[in-house]
Amino acid sequence: MGLEGHFFGYAPIGPQANPPRLRALLDRLHRPRPVGAHREKNVNLVRIWDLPTRLFHAALILAFVGLIATAQIGGSAMVWHFRCGYAVLALLLFRVVWGWVGGYWSRFAPFVSSPAAALAYARTPFEQRPPSAGHNPMGAWSVLAILLAMGLQVTAGLFSDDEIATAGPLVPYASGQWVSLATRYHTSIGKLAVFALLALHVGTVLYYRNKRKIDLITPMVSGDKLLPAGTRPSKDSAGTRVLALVVLGLIAVGVGVLLG
Ligand code: HEM
Ligand code: HEM
Repeated sequence: MGLEGHFFGYAPIGPQANPPRLRALLDRLHRPRPVGAHREKNVNLVRIWDLPTRLFHAALILAFVGLIATAQIGGSAMVWHFRCGYAVLALLLFRVVWGWVGGYWSRFAPFVSSPAAALAYARTPFEQRPPSAGHNPMGAWSVLAILLAMGLQVTAGLFSDDEIATAGPLVPYASGQWVSLATRYHTSIGKLAVFALLALHVGTVLYYRNKRKIDLITPMVSGDKLLPAGTRPSKDSAGTRVLALVVLGLIAVGVGVLLG
């Protein structure tokens, strides 16, 4: 058997291939699965995550990886830590604006429910939970918590000072007491809060995929979910994409002028 047959654990292709197993694997990889609507017959692919929201998510992951890598390297890499931090700030501000003017399922109004609704959802047995087009009521709160924790971490970063060579751009404008509080927050509780929420986030998404057989990742890439026909789609036209670009551009210029 050729070495290529073992790459990434895929079944071998060629004379040794096991067609039914391979077909089943390909089928499983490519067939979009209904989200929480397994028994619904009348389902359609519906645009839920508009392109700006998906790009926001991808950019946030990239910036986060950059922040962690540069914080580990330290020294002159901290210049890039700051740049990634400004990128996160611009992305967060963009997401807040997009929460008002973005595609329907990216808006805060339809996805944020009361804490009581989130608790009721959590108490409902998994099989009886209604399908969620956007974030489910529990997921919505975890998304808000991630956005808040990252916002606090960026804010603290702007006032952080390692007292050697790296000081955030707002350090000169704050008292020593505030700077030491912000630095302690940024390097301890704040950092841990972001890590814990993201571990929970990725863990939950993988749990849904592996244990519950509900794929939330593909829709975050393609934008579409299989949902009962008639589900309201998010608008994702050339016009809304240009609007997103203008909003992000204005915010990026503002962040650059004020902090860069
Ligand atoms: C490590 C950095 C990450 C950050 C900061 C992050 C943050 C977020 C945020 C803020 C949202 C809400 C999207 C919105 O409504 O605007 C979200 C949703 C989502 N993220 Fe992430 N994420 C990260 C990593 C990942 C990874 C690695 C995966 C894949 C395993 C992932 C999968 C998803 C999915 C599937 C959703 C949609 C959840 C749903 O359907 O309710 N995320 N993420
Ligand atoms: C969500 C965004 C951010 C994350 C996740 C993050 C994460 C981190 C981490 C993990 C460290 C190393 C902490 C340690 O030594 O244990 C660090 C250090 C630092 N960060 Fe950030 N950071 C972010 C944004 C920023 C921003 C926007 C700035 C300033 C513009 C900044 C400035 C600093 C400084 C000055 C340090 C060194 C603090 C010290 O060693 O005392 N960070 N950051």
